[in-house]
Amino acid sequence: MIQETIVTTQNSSGAAHIAPMGIHVNGDDFIILPFRPSTTLNNLLESKTAVFNYCDDVRVFAGCLTGRRDWPLKSAEIINGKVLCCALAHTEVEIVRIEDDPVRPKLFCKAVHTVNHAPFKGFNRAQYSVLEAAILISRLNRLPMEKIESEIDYLRIGLEKTAGDRELEAWGWLMAIIEKFKAKVKA
Ligand SMILES: Cc1cc2nc3c(=O)[nH]c(=O)nc-3n(C[C@H](O)[C@H](O)[C@H](O)COP(=O)(O)O)c2cc1C
Repeated sequence: MIQETIVTTQNSSGAAHIAPMGIHVNGDDFIILPFRPSTTLNNLLESKTAVFNYCDDVRVFAGCLTGRRDWPLKSAEIINGKVLCCALAHTEVEIVRIEDDPVRPKLFCKAVHTVNHAPFKGFNRAQYSVLEAAILISRLNRLPMEKIESEIDYLRIGLEKTAGDRELEAWGWLMAIIEKFKAKVKA
């Protein structure tokens, strides 16, 4: 299964970096697959550790894709790393093996510590819409605009029916990026 998480990493000077990543999960074993170039990848190769943050505030996902990466962090409990303060739970991992690749290396990880912080309160369709729209935006240069627009039209249905303030704010950031991209292509 692939779980959409926020991965926090640190470089050797202790500077933290956060990025949404789809993590392949098999019990306590995980694989991170960053596309090159990636700050997350560079940090993972330096520190050999990461934190997977399980987060229902979709503004963090949309924020990372729209230049808003300054989310409050606190120290991890076992590894030398950082945890997203708004995470419902997190897992601290160590890299155990790397399968290198010029496009998308595979980093195999093992969980060393998992902590619950707050209850999971159920699924929300608008959160799904924001996640899918964020993925589309991460591929703006690779997908035809007609496909992006038709998918956004579909995702907007669930968003308009079920969103709260956080989801509406995140959606607004993502739509602004699409509009900016369209204006740039036209110019
Ligand atoms: C839900 C979601 C899942 C993503 N999963 C991945 C992933 O598995 N690998 C990847 O390279 N980028 C993924 N991305 C895109 C990255 O978060 C984004 O490109 C980011 O800037 C990665 O580069 P960085 O490590 O330099 O920050 C995902 C984005 C979203 C919104």
